Formats: sequence, structure tokens, C-alpha cells
Amino acid sequence: MRDYREFLQEILIDPHTLQARIAELGAEISRDYADSGGNLILLCILRGGVVFLVDLMRHITIPHMLDFMAISSYGVGKRESNGNVRLTMDLSTNIRGKDVLIVEDIIDSGYTIASVIELLQTRQPRSLKVCALLDKVERREANVPIHYRGFVIPNKFVFGYGLDIDEYYRNLPFIGVVDLEKYQPE
Ligand code: IMP
Ligand code: MG
Repeated sequence: MRDYREFLQEILIDPHTLQARIAELGAEISRDYADSGGNLILLCILRGGVVFLVDLMRHITIPHMLDFMAISSYGVGKRESNGNVRLTMDLSTNIRGKDVLIVEDIIDSGYTIASVIELLQTRQPRSLKVCALLDKVERREANVPIHYRGFVIPNKFVFGYGLDIDEYYRNLPFIGVVDLEKYQPE
């Protein structure tokens, strides 16, 4: 596996900046759901959202539950989601009457989150909101609400802090931009 320094174009968001913003989001969520009465469920979209989730939840000071679902939209080697989103792992909680907050790494075209919202609405949660660490707003094709947003980023392929390149590099503590001319899949 290649060292990321060979294709890192720039560090877009450093660890300190990430953590400071995530603390703010956690505080905001804690205030907004203060009256939820233990009905808040953080629903993490695997796998990219997991690093964000574990940092975010430690800044949420009100009682809440966790669940996970997995969606597949990009095939390995592909860089665009095409709207053909597939549910590969369903959540296990009954969300009827609950306050569901979807925790996602990045909203790009918006197709992934739009189809997740459509599916979850059929299960009649009391409320359904979206918390996304990154928003590639220029790329948006599907009209989706983002209630909590970490950072708006430019239209560049990024990695680290949960986001992968062909399933690797999720562990890096920063958000980096890939130099696609230098990155060749092995
Ligand atoms: P969308 O359906 O186009 O909004 O794509 C959302 C999904 O694509 C995210 O959950 C990520 O898994 C993936 N994705 C989009 N942009 C990037 C990126 O720059 N780096 C890594 N993954 C990305
Ligand atoms: Mg993802």
C-alpha cells in the first residue's frame, strides 16, 4: 500500500480544526435535542461516517442511542455515485416515533443521503435530520436538507478521517486532497 504522502496534494482540514468544529456541532446537537427525552438515535452511515461519529458522540451531552446502516454507491475504483444506491446493511432499531439524526461523512451529489431519507421516512420517525461533516456543495444534484454541517469543501476528491480511497486511508487524522494524477490504484 502506497504512502499517502506520494499523492497528498494538500491538507484541507487539519486535526485541530476538525476537532474544534466537531465540538461545536456536538454542543449544538445537545441543545437542539435537549427535550428529546432519550429518543435521539445517531444513525451512522458506514463506513465513512464512523470516525466522525465516535468523535461527535463524545461531545453530545444528552442521552442517545446509536445504530448503523451501510449503503453502497461507489464501486471500488469509481469516483462518482450514480444514483444507484444499494442498502447493504439495515439498522436494527425500530425508529418509529424516534428522533433520528443521520451521521454521514460527506454529501457529494446527494443521491446517497436522498435515498436513505426516502427509505427512513417510510418507517415514521418523529423527526429525521442530517449531520454531515463535509459538504461538496458545488456537486449537488439531489436536493437534500443538511441540518448540521461541519465544513463546505471545494469540488476535490478528499480522503482521511473516515473517507477512503479504494477502502484505505480512513485512519488518517486530517482531511487531505488527493492528487489524482499521482494516485494510481495498485
Ligand atoms: P453522493 O451520493 O454523491 O452524495 O456520495 C456520497 C458518498 O460518496 C459519501 O458517503 C462517500 O462515501 C463518497 N464520497 C463522495 N465524495 C468523496 C470524496 O471526496 N472522498 C471519498 N469519498 C467520497
Ligand atoms: Mg460514505
